[in-house]
Amino acid sequence: MAKRIALCITGASGAAFAYRFLEEASKANGVETHLVISKSGGMVIKQELGISVQDVQGLADFSYDEHNFMAPIASGSFRLCGTLVSPCSMKTLSGIAHAYESNLIIRCASIALKEKWKLVLMPRETPLSTIHIKNMLEASRAGAIIMPPMPQFYFKPKDISSLIDMTVGKMLSIFDIESSLSREWGSDKAALKEFEPSDGIY
Ligand SMILES: Cc1cc2nc3c(=O)[nH]c(=O)nc-3n(C[C@H](O)[C@H](O)[C@H](O)COP(=O)(O)O)c2cc1C
Repeated sequence: MAKRIALCITGASGAAFAYRFLEEASKANGVETHLVISKSGGMVIKQELGISVQDVQGLADFSYDEHNFMAPIASGSFRLCGTLVSPCSMKTLSGIAHAYESNLIIRCASIALKEKWKLVLMPRETPLSTIHIKNMLEASRAGAIIMPPMPQFYFKPKDISSLIDMTVGKMLSIFDIESSLSREWGSDKAALKEFEPSDGIY
């Protein structure tokens, strides 16, 4: 059976992470994507990427309206490998932390938690209020993986797209999707040699 993943895009900044994830997932073997984009998510896609919601939907295997509770992914009987909410607004994070299932995105995340499937949240806001932090803690305690977009500078990104791709590589590897974007520290022996104690840093 294909690896079914629900990708939910909300109205936080960072639509590029979801777009690149979808591009890579659509190329991967045996991955089936189920996409939900919130109304605000659609506005941010337009603002940040300059493309339409339809352009993003075109990359997914299935896509649903955010209020379509008749969608297969609205039920735990439709088995998924997991759900990714990327980017995740503070509003959606709050709904997930409190199981307030007011749309298909929060319903889908709630199902992942109750079924003990993988739920990855990519919250984006800065600075964070105590309420935001508490909501992340609540979601984490319930089983979610909290993965804010925080780039690894030790891989020496050359530009914004390589910064984005590094984070997307991490997202893909959390879902065990093979991709050229996933990188492991230690695989580049030359880079490691630079940090041998003899260089005087330590
Ligand atoms: C351009 C733009 C950027 C935004 N960035 C963020 C953000 O980074 N984090 C956030 O929590 N909300 C952000 N918002 C506000 C959300 O879109 C808004 O709270 C919305 O109600 C979220 O709804 P949703 O979770 O259903 O998508 C942004 C809105 C716009 C228009």
